[in-house]
Amino acid sequence: MEFRMQAIGHVESPYTSEEQIPKGRGAKHEAEGFLVLAPEFAEGLLDIEGFSHLFVIWVFHRSQGFSLLAHPPTASRPHGVFATRSPRRPNPIGLTVVKLLGREGNRLRVKGVDMLDGTPILDIKPYLSSVPEVDLRRGWLDEE
Ligand SMILES: C[S@@+](CC[C@H](N)C(=O)[O-])C[C@H]1O[C@@H](n2cnc3c(N)ncnc32)[C@H](O)[C@@H]1O
Repeated sequence: MEFRMQAIGHVESPYTSEEQIPKGRGAKHEAEGFLVLAPEFAEGLLDIEGFSHLFVIWVFHRSQGFSLLAHPPTASRPHGVFATRSPRRPNPIGLTVVKLLGREGNRLRVKGVDMLDGTPILDIKPYLSSVPEVDLRRGWLDEE
């Protein structure tokens, strides 16, 4: 099956190259940026101000191809791509949780961006996840 999607906006990020983005376990993503919605989608932001955090679903638009085995920078061995956050995946979709700092019309000021400047946004959803810490398992990340 194939699906067609369109960007609803783009990210304004301080990062213009991949090397600038903190990587690896424990990397802190504290950079601020903007999620800029195209004017025709701005009405969809109604009432978003009440949420502290958002899921941003976006496209690794600068990635080329994919590999089913990924070798994250801090890993000592390869892992299946679906057990990683590698940008080189069959469907190059990224997912980031950001803190919503404010809204200026069709622009959301957020903290925690790990995307490159100009990254296309596919969707934005309120972050409501509530898996208790005690139930979380982090797989191979806890072996490294
Ligand atoms: C490890 S991925 C994680 C991204 C997201 N938090 C996720 O889990 O899907 C983050 C890396 O993707 C790369 N990246 C960010 N924006 C990108 C883009 N638009 N196209 C290709 N690679 C990108 C950068 O190297 C960045 O360090």
